[in-house]
Amino acid sequence: MRSFLDLRQTAPEEIRGILAQAAAMKAARAGRAKGASDDVQPLKDRMVALIFEKPSTRTRASFDVGVRQMGGETLVLTGKEMQLGHGETIADTARVLSRYVDLIMIRTFDEASLNELAEHASVPVINGLTDASHPCQIMADVMTFEEKRGSIAGRKVAWLGDGNNVCASFLHAAGQLGFDFTFCGPPNLDPAAPAVAFARERGSKVAIERDPARAVEGADLVVTDTWVSMHDAVSTRERRHNQLRPYQVDARLMGRAGPGALFMHCLPAHRGEEVTSEVMDGPASVVFDEAENRLHAQKAIMRWCLGV
Ligand code: CP
Ligand code: NVA
Repeated sequence: MRSFLDLRQTAPEEIRGILAQAAAMKAARAGRAKGASDDVQPLKDRMVALIFEKPSTRTRASFDVGVRQMGGETLVLTGKEMQLGHGETIADTARVLSRYVDLIMIRTFDEASLNELAEHASVPVINGLTDASHPCQIMADVMTFEEKRGSIAGRKVAWLGDGNNVCASFLHAAGQLGFDFTFCGPPNLDPAAPAVAFARERGSKVAIERDPARAVEGADLVVTDTWVSMHDAVSTRERRHNQLRPYQVDARLMGRAGPGALFMHCLPAHRGEEVTSEVMDGPASVVFDEAENRLHAQKAIMRWCLGV
């Protein structure tokens, strides 16, 4: 039994194994449309709980569909409607759910809640986003990059804007898979220091750059995310927008990135804020491939957790 909590805890060869299985399952699914069979049902008779303490479109839909494609069933639970939202402890919730289901995916606030759930559950737990990380997203992003451009090892990723949860998981992946990472945003929104340190300790070149044009120079991939994450106080919205406006990804900035540079965004995007529609809908953008690959990557993550 293995939980998928944080890319720092998943060894590079395990990450590589999951990515390979994701690609194989995606190919099998595509073959099925052409008449071949992908009737492997590794989750037959298994029940997966999907807990959401924050909103979601992609994570909810892709996990739900992924489980069903593998022959399993899902139980979608919303934080506020659970006793968890009314005083029951996360540890007791973990103990109870473990008696009903084979796997738990949770989207929550504090990373500590995720870890407490995993500690007290007797079934594997998957991180579907916390305030501090979003590892499933980055598995899909690496898969997408490698489908289009080959191995991400030794490449340069430039992140524009807020050094948030998705940015931290990107740094974890940089350390595990050996690519370089440049962060570009205002100093008070720098990525978490432990994430930067992890990538550097593993040999990645991590640069903190304040000038967007310099940050994207030679980049193979340009990434951004919303300026206001779900865990950010609404009262900080105006300040964040004012601070982050200079880091918008527009066509001019993409034009300064390396030749053939791709554009990624985990979505939901706020067109006209962190990215222009011209870039979102332009030739460098692979945002909908990223969204699709959530499905394939997470199917492989669930199989890895369950060893099936
Ligand atoms: N990218 C992502 O996790 O999207 P959702 O918030 O819609 O799940
Ligand atoms: N950084 C964003 C990602 C959403 C998928 C948030 O946490 O709201």
